[in-house]
Amino acid sequence: MEGASAERVRVEPFHRVTPLLESWALSRVAGMPVFLKYENVQPAGSFKIRGIGHFCQQVWDEANTRAQELATRDGWVNVSPFDHPLIWEGHASLVRELRESLGTPPGAVVLSVGGGGLLAGVTAGLLEVGWPQVPIVAMETRGAHSFNAALQAGRLVTLPDITSVARSLGAKTVAARTLECAKECEILSEVVEDREAVSAVQRFLDDERMLVEPACGAALAAVYSGILGRLQAEGRLRLAHASIVVIVCGGNNISNQQLQELKTQLGCS
Ligand SMILES: Cc1ncc(COP(=O)(O)O)c(C=O)c1O
Repeated sequence: MEGASAERVRVEPFHRVTPLLESWALSRVAGMPVFLKYENVQPAGSFKIRGIGHFCQQVWDEANTRAQELATRDGWVNVSPFDHPLIWEGHASLVRELRESLGTPPGAVVLSVGGGGLLAGVTAGLLEVGWPQVPIVAMETRGAHSFNAALQAGRLVTLPDITSVARSLGAKTVAARTLECAKECEILSEVVEDREAVSAVQRFLDDERMLVEPACGAALAAVYSGILGRLQAEGRLRLAHASIVVIVCGGNNISNQQLQELKTQLGCS
């Protein structure tokens, strides 16, 4: 690749600036303004393109040379889906967009945790934009709760198996960086049942007419299952008059038929 075209690839991000919209329906449930960061409308269907795109662009020249070598030999390249500083740096762009849209810090950012790349990226972003005081509510489903287990143990824990239907959260061990994040920012780790995540997907479809996957339902369940209200009642989350942001992280691994099957399987009404 010639210099000029390599340079053009480097400066053009692969991700899109996504909408941040206030949800009337979720605000009513939460009793406070809830803003939704629609990462499910990224070209690849989730926030993942931020980190992986950034990773690819930073290693672009070497990667391109190497990729060409490998393409003629083995034909594959390994990019960690969540455990690399460039992935976190890429996901941090999401927080820069929040600062652009909101101006003032939200009361909390709610997100889902799989391997912890999004968590590490949002932590990096909050520190970068000068919002270190914003708590992160880190949501997982039981059976994919490797971050919660690690926090409780004070060290990385490997789950014996992933039993949750939220397959995109299915990292048996989170990135070591997530435990450091918990020292740098306030992180409230919460685990919901699969049933709650899937019910949240259905309610979100009814409320906002967007179909997202159970991994994203875990974050939405913070509102729909009253987790935020409980954290406030327990005095662990002080939101006063502030709004909250829920990252609508993705909607790749779901179809209407799958949602109906999951609801039947889990006994959701
Ligand atoms: C929709 C969705 N949400 C959450 C996650 C978890 O992200 P991370 O592994 O960065 O914690 C993923 C990972 O693939 C995902 O696709």
